Amino acid sequence: MARTQLHRWLAVVLLAGGAAVPFALGRATPAGATPPAAAAPAADAIPFDHTIHAGKYGMPCLSCHVDARNSTTAGLPSVRKCMGCHKFVAKDKPAIQALTKLWEEHKAPTFRRIHDLPDYVYFPHRVHIAADLACSACHGDVAKMTKVVQVSPLTMGWCLSCHQQRKATLDCVGCHK
Ligand code: HEC
Ligand code: HEC
Ligand code: HEC
Ligand code: HEC
Ligand code: HEC
Repeated sequence: MARTQLHRWLAVVLLAGGAAVPFALGRATPAGATPPAAAAPAADAIPFDHTIHAGKYGMPCLSCHVDARNSTTAGLPSVRKCMGCHKFVAKDKPAIQALTKLWEEHKAPTFRRIHDLPDYVYFPHRVHIAADLACSACHGDVAKMTKVVQVSPLTMGWCLSCHQQRKATLDCVGCHK
């Protein structure tokens, strides 16, 4: 199908409600569901809680996810960053003692990956932050989440319906390099 034709056809699908985009396969797991592979926590997992850090203490999202403004990924903070506080804060807590042990062994905790697009999709955080979209537009109110859950479907139809509203790219090669 020629690209223009496909666009016109996609526009029709989107105007009809977006949900019918036939490419949205692959991610059969509903938003927020735990994929089976992640059932057992790793031995070196540290229970990180956003309601304490981003919620109660109001730490800005970008203070930990520092790459989001300048890079494709948002990234996760280094253990060095955690230890900047936890050398002093809550030292007596078992989770912090486990974290400190990893740090001393030059290891990093394992965090379960929650959002994960297929490799053939290009999603640059940088562009979206520059367009003044709040993290919550796509991730929900993370400061209220003890465990982060995926609240958006991350399907092609989801990307396209916002792109259509915001007059951002609908070009295949914009998201599929
Ligand atoms: C003190 C550092 C810190 C702050 C502040 C922080 N985060 Fe996080 N964030 C983490 C860590 C560590 C993880 C990995 C563990 C987890 O998933 O909870 C994470 C995970 C996430 C994830 C899931 C990543 C994935 O695998 O898909 C999202 C989304 C996220 N944070 C968004 C936010 C938002 C939005 C804010 C601000 C409201 C925020 N974070 C504030 C440290 C932080
Ligand atoms: C800017 C300072 C700061 C940074 C950076 C920070 N934390 Fe914290 N963290 C805190 C504070 C404050 C508390 C609450 C302590 C309390 O209630 O006694 C806390 C609590 C915790 C707890 C709960 C401890 C318990 O059992 O009560 C864990 C686990 C934790 N942080 C892990 C991390 C990890 C992992 C990182 C790095 C990804 C990190 N923190 C980064 C300040 C920080
Ligand atoms: C327009 C939607 C959108 C906005 C706005 C957005 N994100 Fe994301 N975020 C995503 C998508 C989509 C992924 C999955 C990326 C992938 O798998 O390649 C993701 C992944 C992440 C991850 C997992 C690690 C990574 O880098 O892939 C973290 C952490 C994260 N986002 C934090 C944030 C923070 C913090 C903000 C605000 C500063 C933010 N995001 C704004 C859509 C968004
Ligand atoms: C909530 C709205 C929203 C969602 C959801 C969203 N985007 Fe965007 N996207 C935008 C905006 C706004 C821009 C910036 C447009 C501009 O600056 O011209 C943008 C720009 C982009 C660009 C840069 C295009 C260029 O011209 O360089 C890419 C690539 C992109 N988005 C991919 C994605 C992908 C992939 C998804 C889904 C995983 C997605 N976006 C979801 C709003 C969104
Ligand atoms: C704004 C970003 C964006 C644009 C523009 C876009 N796609 Fe996609 N596409 C995605 C995302 C995200 C996925 C992964 C969706 C999923 O797994 O549900 C995807 C998946 C696909 C798939 C794979 C479906 C599967 O399950 O194997 C095909 C094929 C595809 N897109 C073709 C296209 C074509 C053709 C165009 C141009 C008409 C296009 N895409 C434009 C974001 C985009």
